[in-house]
Amino acid sequence: MPIITVFVGPAGSGKTTLVKTYSEWLRRTLFMHVAIVNLDPGVEELPYKPLFDIREWFTLRDIMRKYRLGPNGAFLKASEMLISKINDLFKHTPFNDITKWDMILIDTPGQMEAFIFRPVSTVFFKILTKISNPVVVFVIDASAIETLSDAVTLWFLGVLTQAKLGLTVVPVINKIDIAGSNELARLIVEEPEKLAEMAKHYSEEGLLSEVVPELVSIALKTKGAYRPVMVSAKKTNTMEDLHYLVHEAFCTCGDLT
Ligand code: GTP
Repeated sequence: MPIITVFVGPAGSGKTTLVKTYSEWLRRTLFMHVAIVNLDPGVEELPYKPLFDIREWFTLRDIMRKYRLGPNGAFLKASEMLISKINDLFKHTPFNDITKWDMILIDTPGQMEAFIFRPVSTVFFKILTKISNPVVVFVIDASAIETLSDAVTLWFLGVLTQAKLGLTVVPVINKIDIAGSNELARLIVEEPEKLAEMAKHYSEEGLLSEVVPELVSIALKTKGAYRPVMVSAKKTNTMEDLHYLVHEAFCTCGDLT
């Protein structure tokens, strides 16, 4: 059975670039047969060649024009349109015969509220889990982390994704080439308990100081046995760590619901 890896995460976190770099590394280093699927109808240009591209069916621009919608409304419409074509999607390569592939990488829209947090993700993952044991990689942009609450809320978004999908979700901290010295990002990976300690002394006024420690505590409780990794989608030499994590998660993934 191939490892099907689904890349999710906020807009601009680096999903598309990671899919490109990781797929190239898998082909060149491990000589794997890798299929790529693009489910983002809003992307203008892709740096990889997908075997299936949702834009064959519809693009965000076309939906905006046809239904006179803004970009957010068009993303929501696109997610409804994907639901109505979900059976066709799974009849299409590479899903129609997954045994041909060693790995299938799936790129998703960054507008998480229009994909992960909509009914479309339930429908999509329900079918995907029937044919495989997917690994969901939640990409966190290290350069977007400036404060403790940035670190905790991004980490927690991964926890919410896990809760929504009922699947193991593995966090990956990306962009370490430009934010490698980001201490808060490093803590998520290496010493999450320390984040919990910091959260207890969080000095921001208001609701956040009460909520942040709770979020850290829930994130710690729900975190899997494996350690998140820090990568750069611009540096091939970090792909081995990503692969190790994906492989480990694939072997241990189970339904958490
Ligand atoms: P959406 O499609 O909007 O969801 O974005 P995405 O998550 O697919 O991110 P994408 O790969 O398009 O990257 C967004 C921007 O970040 C691009 O300009 C990339 O070149 C850049 N980028 C992605 N990963 C890295 C990285 O590891 N390091 C650096 N320096 N830039 C990165």
